[in-house]
Amino acid sequence: MKDSDYKKEFLNVFARFEYKYSKWEVWQDFLYLAAASMANVFPTKERAEREKTYLSIIKKYPKELQDSFTELLAIVALALDENPEQDFLGELYHRLNLQQHQKGQFFTPYHICEFMSEIQMVEQEAEDNSWEKGYITVGDCACGAGAMLIAFANVARKHKINFQTEVLFFAQDIDLTAALMCYVQLSLLGCSAFVIVGDSLAKPGFHPDNQIWCTPMYYVNWWRFRKPSGSGGNEETAAEGVHEVSILPVTEGASGQLAFDFDAGLEKMKKVS
Ligand SMILES: C[S@@+](CC[C@H](N)C(=O)[O-])C[C@H]1O[C@@H](n2cnc3c(N)ncnc32)[C@H](O)[C@@H]1O
Repeated sequence: MKDSDYKKEFLNVFARFEYKYSKWEVWQDFLYLAAASMANVFPTKERAEREKTYLSIIKKYPKELQDSFTELLAIVALALDENPEQDFLGELYHRLNLQQHQKGQFFTPYHICEFMSEIQMVEQEAEDNSWEKGYITVGDCACGAGAMLIAFANVARKHKINFQTEVLFFAQDIDLTAALMCYVQLSLLGCSAFVIVGDSLAKPGFHPDNQIWCTPMYYVNWWRFRKPSGSGGNEETAAEGVHEVSILPVTEGASGQLAFDFDAGLEKMKKVS
């Protein structure tokens, strides 16, 4: 099926809600339900709270519309599976005119993101070949629906870097719905990522006020225990093996080092903030 057919299909299912619910409400609810259903596969500290929110959202809808949410997620999964080189949710967000609700939240067209990622990749390759020594972290501190990171994943694949095992993605957005768009897309693409909800300027990274959503692949890859080959096993030597890439400026607080030990990183941020 073509990309446009998946989008048409998504909008048809989405329209079933229109008789009673606002587009913005359904969009927000869809993203929370989709994100929580993926995040709650793992026994995280936030699991119970997310389950509670999930139930409070789903109860608002009659049975036939509850099933429609599942259909929407299936369409997104199939669309990204067939063509991973796109910002499927970001484009639908604009198609539905939801940026008006968020006072002009415009996402970068996918081909521009691809161009920016390609430049970054080629520049790094020209500089050295240190990516082969460890793994790459890449971040977007104003991630929106995640177009920049999706593009980076695809460009990495084209450069023969396995983005599912060799790249750690981190994202932050002040807006919960935007962050969850990014979370859902990176999860479905199989990226190891943590997506942070919070103000990148005032509360960057693992600030205690921020919500953190880790993708299933993050847990599957056990990033928290991973050390690059040749490192002595402590954080300082491990950090040498990481090659950090920033498509957009990355704040100090969201440094790749925190990815080595998620819990210790969180503790550290709590102490300094
Ligand atoms: C123009 S969009 C860009 C999104 C994405 N990087 C892209 O290129 O498609 C800017 C995003 O930054 C987010 N944002 C604005 N101020 C922020 C802040 N202080 N901290 C984190 N995110 C912020 C907005 O919610 C919005 O999703």
